[in-house]
Amino acid sequence: MSKVILILAVQILLVTTFASAVDRGDFARTMNPKRLHMKEKLTHLRVYWHDIISGRNPSAIVIKKHVAKHSFGSITMIDNALTSDVPINSTLVGQAQGFYAGASQHETSFLMAMNFAFKTGKYNGSTITILGRNSIFSEVRKMSVVGGSGIFRFARGYVELRTKWFDQQSGDATVEYNCFVLHY
Ligand SMILES: *[C@@H]1O[C@H](CO)[C@@H](O)[C@H](O)[C@H]1NC(C)=O
Ligand SMILES: *[C@@H]1O[C@H](CO)[C@@H](O)[C@H](O)[C@H]1NC(C)=O
Repeated sequence: MSKVILILAVQILLVTTFASAVDRGDFARTMNPKRLHMKEKLTHLRVYWHDIISGRNPSAIVIKKHVAKHSFGSITMIDNALTSDVPINSTLVGQAQGFYAGASQHETSFLMAMNFAFKTGKYNGSTITILGRNSIFSEVRKMSVVGGSGIFRFARGYVELRTKWFDQQSGDATVEYNCFVLHY
């Protein structure tokens, strides 16, 4: 009896597998990566990220106030300038667009999700997507590059952050981002 049930179960499995294979149609196929002329490259980008929350033209805006200590529960949307050097009036290379959210109840640490949209030279129009944990009072923080577009298609990598300047009064900050990006 149990043998019959087993055979029936296997048959049902086969039928459903076959049926779904037929239903799938031909929307997907495997490709030879050579057809996209894909060759892996490693790019190091060093940019300075300016978080300006004070003044009349802030680039970072709190859209949800914290609900507990250590900024927990806050959400800040950003459209921060990325420059080639520490001074905010150095060459603008792109914008950091996204948000950071207070994600720790025991220290000041943020979940960051943002795109770096580059605007200069051959990088114009290309992006990398950064996701990670930023414990802002640590000397060095590390986050992930989870993807990209344009020159940075198929990107993955990591980022090291170091705060270069922080104004305790206003909360404004300049942070150095060293991005190590593998891409094709
Ligand atoms: C940037 O601003 C500083 C003063 O705030 C000035 O001394 C410097 O010349 C400026 N640099 C550029 C490239 O505009
Ligand atoms: C970047 O690309 C945009 C859109 O294609 C173009 O309007 C802009 O002039 C370019 N900027 C530079 C610096 O090449």
